[in-house]
Amino acid sequence: MDSIVGDEAIIATNDNASECKRCAVQIGYWQDKYINHFVRHAERKPPEINRGYYARIKGVERLIRQFLQKCGNNAQIISIGAGFDTLYWRMKDEGLEFGNFVEMDFPTVTSRKCHLIKKSKVLLEKLHTEDGEVRFSSTDLHGSGYHLVGGDLRSLPEVRSKLGAGGECGLDPSLPTLFLAECVLVYVDAASTGRLLDWISSTFSSVFFVNYEQLNIGDKFGEVMQRNLRSRGCSLAGIEACLSKEGQEQRFTSHGWEGSKCWDMIEVYNSLPQSDMKRVEALEFLDERELLLQLFQHYCISIAWREAPESRFELSSIDIH
Ligand SMILES: C[S@@+](CC[C@H](N)C(=O)[O-])C[C@H]1O[C@@H](n2cnc3c(N)ncnc32)[C@H](O)[C@@H]1O
Repeated sequence: MDSIVGDEAIIATNDNASECKRCAVQIGYWQDKYINHFVRHAERKPPEINRGYYARIKGVERLIRQFLQKCGNNAQIISIGAGFDTLYWRMKDEGLEFGNFVEMDFPTVTSRKCHLIKKSKVLLEKLHTEDGEVRFSSTDLHGSGYHLVGGDLRSLPEVRSKLGAGGECGLDPSLPTLFLAECVLVYVDAASTGRLLDWISSTFSSVFFVNYEQLNIGDKFGEVMQRNLRSRGCSLAGIEACLSKEGQEQRFTSHGWEGSKCWDMIEVYNSLPQSDMKRVEALEFLDERELLLQLFQHYCISIAWREAPESRFELSSIDIH
């Protein structure tokens, strides 16, 4: 398969993720006033898919909150392969303070996101700069504390020019920085991810990574997942790291990161507050609990850190220990 066809299929995974999020939000799994500005319609998804998205969104959010608690309000967040994610707007609404928020994705995706932001007053009003102006090009957007840039993560020169010091995003490698990737690295070949992780760990002086993606993908259930993705034309170039927790952790520790920890989504789900789980479990009847557990065993959240003032992140609590 040539890489253009492959990239288009990978780009389309963003539409699927955004529709799933909209569906879960409509049912009430979590609140997001912004997702409907990026996705017009979403068909109803099976309960286990909605529950899976809930665990993913909440698990990631809790780690980001811990990071901000530990690192203070000048910390930077960089979401790679961000798609149409609405995290920036949701965090603003919650009053979470951070210094700079940058999103990167293929230019095809960022140009669509730029267009949708440009025509939405609700999205735009959260991006205002001191002089009131948000700068747009066809693929990039620069607001006050929010930047959206187009680039291919497989090209280190592109990544460097967009995310490095002195670039238009105003990132400062000496500030605490969190990188976020949700279902992204599985589509990037191991050599490119290795170069990217080497660059991040050697450039940012105090840095965390939060990564959500597939796990245990080599077993029978995982093979079915692989076949489904491949049948949509997606090449899973980064699959090697998704075979085990050790693979997930080694991907970081073999590229300059001090430490890494991987949790499967059963562990993540069980760490979420009981009160909210009760609410969520009452939203939809789940016929196939076994299927949900299998799905949870096949996704994970990994973290990695380097030169961080406090590297102990707890899954079960957002308190700093
Ligand atoms: C499954 S979507 C996830 C989107 C978003 N992170 C979320 O959780 O909703 C995967 C995203 O990764 C992006 N992506 C994959 N490979 C990429 C690359 N080489 N460069 C830039 N973006 C990439 C795709 O365009 C897509 O938006």
